Amino acid sequence: MERWVGKVAVVTGASSGIGAATVQALARAGLITVGLARRAERIEALRTGLPTEVGHRIHAHPCDVTDERSILGAFEFLARQFGGVDVLINNAGVAKPTVTLLTPGNTAELRTVLDTNVLGLILCSREAHRSMKARSVAGHIVNVNSIAGHKYIDVPNLNVYIASKYAVTAITETLRNELRHDSSKVKITSISPGIVRTEMIPDVHQFNELPMLEPEDVVGAILYALGTPSHVQVHELIIKPMGENL
Ligand SMILES: NC(=O)c1ccc[n+]([C@@H]2O[C@H](COP(=O)([O-])OP(=O)(O)OC[C@H]3O[C@@H](n4cnc5c(N)ncnc54)[C@H](OP(=O)(O)O)[C@@H]3O)[C@@H](O)[C@H]2O)c1
Repeated sequence: MERWVGKVAVVTGASSGIGAATVQALARAGLITVGLARRAERIEALRTGLPTEVGHRIHAHPCDVTDERSILGAFEFLARQFGGVDVLINNAGVAKPTVTLLTPGNTAELRTVLDTNVLGLILCSREAHRSMKARSVAGHIVNVNSIAGHKYIDVPNLNVYIASKYAVTAITETLRNELRHDSSKVKITSISPGIVRTEMIPDVHQFNELPMLEPEDVVGAILYALGTPSHVQVHELIIKPMGENL
């Protein structure tokens, strides 16, 4: 990870779960780490309990990835304040498990999942790449995908979530090829966890019975991908808790 020390990482969905743990780990590894989320005050609070110099490397900026103006504003702030972006962790994601695909009047929920998990990820990647290319940076984009991006899983009310994660798998490969055709040194990695104990998982018996990963397990995979030498690109990592059979 030495080559990233002092570089700028951006983590979307940094106010909770995997994103919050990633912000703390990247700051510990020496990166200037900017967390984006709607609840930016929760990102500010991630400094609590960390050594002062690590806490100083954590920055928060409000951003709603379903709103293009909000994304553009965040990347303008990043350019102004920190000079640009070297690492993007596309982590913001939602499920809206109150509706099925066939529930009448479900349009708002479906649109929110697609705008967050798919379009938000594309627009953040586009803006981060623009910054990397303008500064000739051999950057890295990491997409927090899911096992649901590779295989249909029979969990009720996931509605368009599975399709959104299949889209992340396809978008990762499309971006990889766009970068390759451009002779870019920017890497792109998809990390696909099974169930992770975060606020996204309802605290109900059906889930509590299942084996789960912790956010730090996913962070370990992100750090591994970022830490590879410049000639090595991790394309995809599928990580499940022992005993999971989804
Ligand atoms: N938990 C699992 O079992 C699991 C498994 C596989 C993959 N994943 C993926 O892991 C990623 C992180 O999820 P998590 O489990 O850590 O869930 P989480 O604890 O609920 O965190 C979700 C994060 O996404 C952010 N977010 C949601 N909508 C947003 C928006 N419109 N704009 C900006 N940020 C937004 C939230 O921040 P604000 O609400 O403050 O904006 C929050 O920080 C997601 O992509 C998820 O699909 C999770």
